[in-house]
Amino acid sequence: MKKILVTGGLGFIGSHTVVELQHAGFEVVIIDDLSNTTIEVLENITSITGINPEFHQIDLRVKTAVQQFFDTTAVDGVIHFAAFKAVGESVEKPLDYYENNIGSLVTLLQEMKNHKLDHFIFSSSCTVYGQADELPITENAPIKAAESPYGNTKQIGEAIIKESCNAYAMNAIALRYFNPIGAHESIKIGELPLGVPQNLIPFITQTAAGIREELSVFGDDYPTSDGTAVRDYIHVVDLAKAHIAALQRLLNKQNENNFEYYNVGTGKGTSVLEVIKTFEKVSGKSLHYKMVGRREGDITAAYADTTIANKKLHWKTEKSLEEALAAAWKWQLKQ
Ligand code: UD1
Repeated sequence: MKKILVTGGLGFIGSHTVVELQHAGFEVVIIDDLSNTTIEVLENITSITGINPEFHQIDLRVKTAVQQFFDTTAVDGVIHFAAFKAVGESVEKPLDYYENNIGSLVTLLQEMKNHKLDHFIFSSSCTVYGQADELPITENAPIKAAESPYGNTKQIGEAIIKESCNAYAMNAIALRYFNPIGAHESIKIGELPLGVPQNLIPFITQTAAGIREELSVFGDDYPTSDGTAVRDYIHVVDLAKAHIAALQRLLNKQNENNFEYYNVGTGKGTSVLEVIKTFEKVSGKSLHYKMVGRREGDITAAYADTTIANKKLHWKTEKSLEEALAAAWKWQLKQ
């Protein structure tokens, strides 16, 4: 049985990936510092799969703790989710973002190199493309200057991994996520935003649940079919499965380059108004919303060309926007 380290394994995408790894027959060891999640997620994972993953509460910025972990634990691969991810906060606290997102990545790679470990999967983001000139976005689209320190940590992170793969004969895949949403069908794990949600779907579900008064739709004057911005919303379980596919590509030595990167989306663009309408349909609730000005730093439209990921990873999405929004709503009702 191959043993895989999942950092940030109790977070939103991490926890769903742990479940899929266990379903696929991997042994999982989780590192999480619990800074943006709770320990109950561990029990909830166990109650879905019947397998209790090994867990270490470690802050990856603490080098000695990371060293000690790798001195005592041999793993066949690492999936690295642990990172700060709030765009606005990153503008206010850039050094915290660089220290955490970049520092932790460097420490992890150093320990992998020192222990002669291989097979690294990195959480990247479609934010690396900025507003792409052509849609859908292929992996060949140029990287644009980052709009925020958060986005920059993903770009710099990819560069660090690429250079490390070249220098130390390691193999890695960066997955560039579009917009992950939804929750596990068991409704035992899902997204747990701290405070006021910044992302669209948690804001919608909290508004429908009466926690927020009204959703503000950021911008109705975009050059799109209905004037609202377009994104590619992917069910988190489909996204989780992409990590298993990427890991298997590396473990089976099917990768053509020592550093590869793939778009992980559905390939379908959906406007904010279309999301609202679909949510109203699946929940049976009518949502309070108002049109306001654009949010700074937002782009008009982003959706993936998934041709390369479908082919090379032998992976494709299986779930619809309706399913994802229905799961997000059930998850909200459970909170
Ligand atoms: C955001 C980040 C992106 C990050 C991703 C992670 C920004 C500018 N971008 O993507 O870098 O990788 O989250 O999840 O923050 N919207 C509203 N009202 C709201 C919230 C959102 O109208 O209350 C709109 C936004 O303007 C956007 C769409 O909904 O058009 C999706 O927003 P969001 O969920 O925040 O994702 P992104 O901005 O695409």
